[in-house]
Amino acid sequence: MQISNAMAERMNAQVSNELGASNQYLQIASYFDGEGLFKLAKFFYDQAEEEREHAMKFVHYLMDVGAALGIAAIPATKTEIGTAENAFVMSLGWEQEVTAQINAMMDLAIQEKDYASQAFLQWFVTEQVEEVSTMENMLQIVRRSGEKNILMVEAYLTHSE
Ligand code: FEO
Repeated sequence: MQISNAMAERMNAQVSNELGASNQYLQIASYFDGEGLFKLAKFFYDQAEEEREHAMKFVHYLMDVGAALGIAAIPATKTEIGTAENAFVMSLGWEQEVTAQINAMMDLAIQEKDYASQAFLQWFVTEQVEEVSTMENMLQIVRRSGEKNILMVEAYLTHSE
């Protein structure tokens, strides 16, 4: 195995973190779908796909470095979404958590002089800047429109495609 046991453990945990995020975004997508807010639903369906791709990147990396895969239990999703604002507040929180998880792995890779994992993780460092920024922007737009005018967010998403 080309990475340490500690790194393999963290990366395995990250597979389930990313799959958990994917499930959570699916849950949110279904909330918007049910509300007839199809652009917001699509935003989260797409986000769910992206999280699955993130999980797959870790799976492939673990295979490439000769580590075993063991997917831990994935927590149940939060089903009470309530409002669009809450959906984005929760999403921003998760993205900030993921950023901290990626940074902790990068810290370990640096500490272990694991250059391969540093190179691999760099993609996620950059991706998280994008993910946090997207959620911050969407939260700002949702707050500006308010729940009553949420169709304006739908229009915004239509025009930003
Ligand atoms: Fe895979 Fe949105 O972080």
